[in-house]
Parts: sequence; C-alpha cells; structure tokens
Amino acid sequence: MKTRKITKAVFPVAGMGTRFLPATKSIPKEIMTLVDRPLIQYAIDEARAAGITEFIFVTSRGKSALEDYFDVAPELESRLRDAGKKELLEVLKDTNMDSGAIAYVRQNRPLGLGHAVWCARRLIGDEPFAVLLPDDVIAAEKPCLQQMVEAYAQTGGNMVATMEVAPERVSAYGVLDVADDMGDIVRAKGMVEKPKADEAPSNLAVIGRYILSPRVLNNLNDIKQGAGGEIQLTDAIAKEIGGEESVYGFRFRGQRYDCGSKAGFLQATVAFGLAREDLQAEFADYLHDLLAQQKAAQ
Ligand code: G1P
Repeated sequence: MKTRKITKAVFPVAGMGTRFLPATKSIPKEIMTLVDRPLIQYAIDEARAAGITEFIFVTSRGKSALEDYFDVAPELESRLRDAGKKELLEVLKDTNMDSGAIAYVRQNRPLGLGHAVWCARRLIGDEPFAVLLPDDVIAAEKPCLQQMVEAYAQTGGNMVATMEVAPERVSAYGVLDVADDMGDIVRAKGMVEKPKADEAPSNLAVIGRYILSPRVLNNLNDIKQGAGGEIQLTDAIAKEIGGEESVYGFRFRGQRYDCGSKAGFLQATVAFGLAREDLQAEFADYLHDLLAQQKAAQ
C-alpha cells in the first residue's frame, strides 16, 4: 500500500492536571519529571524517532513553561560553555527545536481530547498525522510510534495503539470492538469511549498513540459531546469504520506507564530510575533494603 509519510504530530497538553495538585498549580503536568526528563521530552523523543519533523502543541493558559522548555536558553548555555560543562550542553540539545518546527495553538475551552485535536486542524491540513498523549509513557526497544509507522505503511487508514487491560479497568479507556484479529494488528468494527465494564465490546484498550487520516478532523467538525460530556477523539475515529479507510488497533511491544495517575507515575519513576546506568546500582540497593525492612516489620 502507498501511504503518505507522517511528518506532523499533535501533542494535546491543555489539561489542567488536577490529579497532580498542588504541583500543577504552578507547573504544567507535562514538565513533571521522570528522573530528570520532563514527561513531554519522552513524547518528543518518540515522535522524532518515528520521523516526525513538525510538532504541534495544543496548549492552554498557564502552559508557558512548555514553550520556554523548547526554546534556547542563551545565558544558561554560555555559562555551561564557559565552565566547560560539555555533557550538560549535550543534554540540553534534545530540548532545542529548529525554528519553525514547533507550533503552539490554544484550546480556549476544555471541551475534550477530540476538540483539542480539532484545534490543530489548520496546521495539519490535508495529510495523515500522529497524535501522542504525553501521559502515556511507553518504554520500548523500538519506540512505539516508530513501530506504528512501520505497521501503518502496510495498512494505511487509521491506527491506534492498543493493549489488553484488566476487564474491570476498561471504563477508563477507549475500547475496540474487533472484526479481524491478525496478531499485532487488529481491524476494528467498533470503538467506544469509556464503556461500562459490562457493556465493553472487549478489553482491548486504546493507548495514547494514533496515526489518523485528515478525514477524522473533518468528522470532528460535527461530533457531539460524548462520554463525560466531552468531544471525544474516539467517536470521530469510529465514524471512519465501515468507510473507505479502515480503523486498526496495533498491539505495540513495550511497557506502558499511565503517568496521568499517581500510581502509574511512581511506577514509571522507579522503572526509569532502575534503567539508568548512572543510578541503577545505588537505587536498586536502596529498594532492596527498603523492601527487606518492610518485610521485617510485618
Ligand atoms: C484518553 C482517550 C482514551 C484512551 C486514553 C489512553 O482518555 O480518550 O480513548 O484510552 O486516553 O490513555 P483520558 O485518559 O484522557 O481520559
């Protein structure tokens, strides 16, 4: 199948992050760090690895720290240079964006994920695009979006990342109704946002990585409020089912952390801390001792 190259990605970052108050009173949730890198950096790195060259942030009031993060910091950089701190300058490189590679568009009212993506419609135009939800952090040998871009080259259409979740957890997700299960790839015959556990078509949940046809943006023009009273991206994608471009789920290889929840954020912090060569030994020792102490106290 001949598919167009995916070069644009949308990062919906307008949410208030109330689950992480009081921290999010003054810092955007996306700037919160796993070890020493902000959540948003993981999403950007993953997008870059997949060939994305244009990054569209859908922001809201109070998110200016994100814009500063991806800007050059001349004073800081010259100080580091003068002090001969080459490694730190190297670390900062990942935060620099080419001029014009990053665009910000405001979502002026919190009307839902579908509405947030729709806010980027003029910047996307008439080409397929990716969406990455920075709350979903995915540790993988080959970055998740890159896996999807490769699978999409075979299928075209629309593709969402997916994984099996515990049946009692389905009501927190978009859920796929599966027509054909081909292993890594499934073709959907339905998709529903946050179904009740006993009404869910499966336990195959949508995870926050999407490759979408521009037709979905068109669908968003007239999508009504759905689950939770919000304009849902899931509903706009589901409209494509049965049309000329199918909707596929892609079972990615990797470990997903739900950094939109405190428990998930802590799990990711531990996992990423343990995966870091410079911290591994000390941190593993500490965790080991802590568990031993807890056991002894029981
Ligand atoms: C969003 C999507 C949902 C998806 C989830 C994955 O929900 O609406 O379909 O399953 O992300 O993290 P949210 O977590 O923003 O409520």
